[in-house]
Amino acid sequence: MNKGRRQFITSGLVGGALVGSGLSLGLQPDTAQARDDGALSILVLGGTGFIGPHMVREALRRGHEVTLFNRGRTNNELFPDLETLIGDRDNGLDELKGRTWDAVIDNSGYVPRHVHDSASLLSSSVGHYLYISTVSVYASFANPLSEDSPLATMDDESIEEVTGETYGPLKALCEKRAEAAIGSDRLTVLRPTYICGPGDRTDRYTYWPVRTMDGGSMLWPGKPSDPIQIIDVRDLANFTIDCVERRHAGIYNTVTPPGEFTIGDLLADSVAVTGAAMNPTWVDYEFIRETGLNEGRKLPIWVSPESDSAGGALASGERALNIGLHNRPTRETARDTVSWWKTLPAERTGKLRAGLSREEEVTLLEQWHAANS
Ligand SMILES: NC(=O)c1ccc[n+]([C@@H]2O[C@H](COP(=O)([O-])OP(=O)(O)OC[C@H]3O[C@@H](n4cnc5c(N)ncnc54)[C@H](OP(=O)(O)O)[C@@H]3O)[C@@H](O)[C@H]2O)c1
Repeated sequence: MNKGRRQFITSGLVGGALVGSGLSLGLQPDTAQARDDGALSILVLGGTGFIGPHMVREALRRGHEVTLFNRGRTNNELFPDLETLIGDRDNGLDELKGRTWDAVIDNSGYVPRHVHDSASLLSSSVGHYLYISTVSVYASFANPLSEDSPLATMDDESIEEVTGETYGPLKALCEKRAEAAIGSDRLTVLRPTYICGPGDRTDRYTYWPVRTMDGGSMLWPGKPSDPIQIIDVRDLANFTIDCVERRHAGIYNTVTPPGEFTIGDLLADSVAVTGAAMNPTWVDYEFIRETGLNEGRKLPIWVSPESDSAGGALASGERALNIGLHNRPTRETARDTVSWWKTLPAERTGKLRAGLSREEEVTLLEQWHAANS
């Protein structure tokens, strides 16, 4: 694995109303029958984590019927009125046998064998398969990415342990297994970048507006003009349901347009939605490298334009935009993330899961000012 790939993954890593439109769904003969009102039956593999609930709510809002499949461990209380099939993707798919759906949304596939098993089992009983992948699948992040950029590979394809190093190559293999079982005509692969917004459990985007809320001196990386990319979880959810309704086969990066959103914009959004008296100090690339701040999740989402991961913040989203991905104003994402954060219990908000601790930040700012006064 090259250094650029590793740095990018360790540092981190869309609506329409077709219901009732009479759109022809072109279902395979042995899949579920299309309902007269255009509503679809959708199976969601992993509907109770972070992104799943947004997709489930959007599908329900558009009048579709949703079935959940999971182990019954995560957020069981979320959808008491929905049919939930209990099973484990690791050799526990029996509950899916003999059932038909118009479409499946696969959110929880990290291991190629799991994706092979579900896609093979469902191949003749679902009309369309949508697999949630990631931009981490690419082999290198040195240059701007497109869907045709080479994918990461693994020497040993039997490895199933998901780590910072194997996550991307495993997801690339998952894509291949899905295509082998389903065929490219009935498969959508979405490759999101950092997914953010209400419910995000990683705090990678959340760190910036939430830290801003506390005000005072705050460390910001690089230059305000440095590009960053995100996808609001609600925009991803809208686009996912669009793809399922319209059967958009193909591979799509799901990102904000490259170069349009910068770390300076994130600062401006954070200040605007929190109204905090925050005093930013921009530290340069050399300082970030010397202090090791470019490793891990210390400066989440930001990517140094001078590093060999710079292309990771410049993925093309044109294909998805051309078929209707809508990115809401990033200020809305900041506003709703902060509003959601304020509803969380103290034991969750006490310690952010990404970014600098206050102690680390104070020490680093002292170091920076000492060297630059
Ligand atoms: N977060 C990001 O920034 C980001 C960026 C790009 C791509 N992605 C992709 O987005 C997806 C993650 O979505 P997420 O964070 O909402 O979910 P997640 O935490 O990966 O998965 C949670 C959901 O999957 C179910 N699940 C987990 N393991 C299972 C198993 N072995 N068998 C059956 N069900 C299982 C969970 O329910 P139970 O626990 O009850 O089983 C829950 O419903 C992944 O595909 C990831 O690669 C994320």
